[in-house]
Amino acid sequence: MRTVYLNGDYIPEDQATVSIFDRGFLFADGVYEVTTVVDGKLIGFDGHCERLKRSLKELGMKVEIDRDEMLEIHRELVKRNNIDQGMIYLQVTRGNPGDRDFAFPPEATKPTMVLFTQEKKVVGTAVETQGLKVVSVDDLRWGRRDIKTVQLLYPSLAKMEAKAKGADDAWLVQDGFVTEGTSNNAYIVKDGKIITRDLSHDILHGITRKSVLACAKLLQMDVEERPFTLEEAYAADEAFSTSASGFTNPIVEIDNNMIGSGKPGPIGDRLRALYLEENLKAAV
Ligand SMILES: Cc1ncc(COP(=O)(O)O)c(C=O)c1O
Repeated sequence: MRTVYLNGDYIPEDQATVSIFDRGFLFADGVYEVTTVVDGKLIGFDGHCERLKRSLKELGMKVEIDRDEMLEIHRELVKRNNIDQGMIYLQVTRGNPGDRDFAFPPEATKPTMVLFTQEKKVVGTAVETQGLKVVSVDDLRWGRRDIKTVQLLYPSLAKMEAKAKGADDAWLVQDGFVTEGTSNNAYIVKDGKIITRDLSHDILHGITRKSVLACAKLLQMDVEERPFTLEEAYAADEAFSTSASGFTNPIVEIDNNMIGSGKPGPIGDRLRALYLEENLKAAV
């Protein structure tokens, strides 16, 4: 049985309970982060910690996040659960005001903080060599996708729609332009140029995106940050997505259109290799 973290305590998962009045449960009033573990070490920890602080600030949640204390909790969970490869999920909600009310609870209301581990093979997966198939789905999420909130119903519905169509994931489309995947950032490559949507309220500012674009710079690859259309995606030489647990994942089919050769492309492969090399060196 896993040991999880709940509001200061390390406890067995079956003893970790949260109130039915918790704002996270009633209003999806909470934010989260997912940090990947490789060889028992955390990838991109500081980026996740900084984004957590930003998400909390954007929602007016006054929660003190101490980087060293957070790192200690993450490491303790890795140790207690003996995680070699996998993820640590962290969620902070506006807590339990003891009743249901749209208005925020009094400032003194304690936030709820939960962390748990998930074991999962992240290096050497079948996806790396086989790639993923995606379908396009209308992006019907709210207008502040740059905040990593736990309101994940629409991405979940989009993912189910993709699965029902025999695909692995959905790329979300707004006004004819791809925003991002259900839980990843989206990229195409055309004539050697990497194209990915620019940062705004429309997409999550991926920690992996930032690192992968830095890797592209190191490799002197050409990058254009701008929205791209579905038609451009169908005609791309290659496509891939990025996320903390997927690193870069090749996309080999979009809406039944084969992308490039139908196999993972060389640019995505090189970026994945360098991303892993750089981030394993920097893992804590
Ligand atoms: C909507 C969305 N976009 C992008 C990402 C990728 O972000 P990161 O690289 O920080 O994992 C995620 C990750 O969960 C996501 O949910």
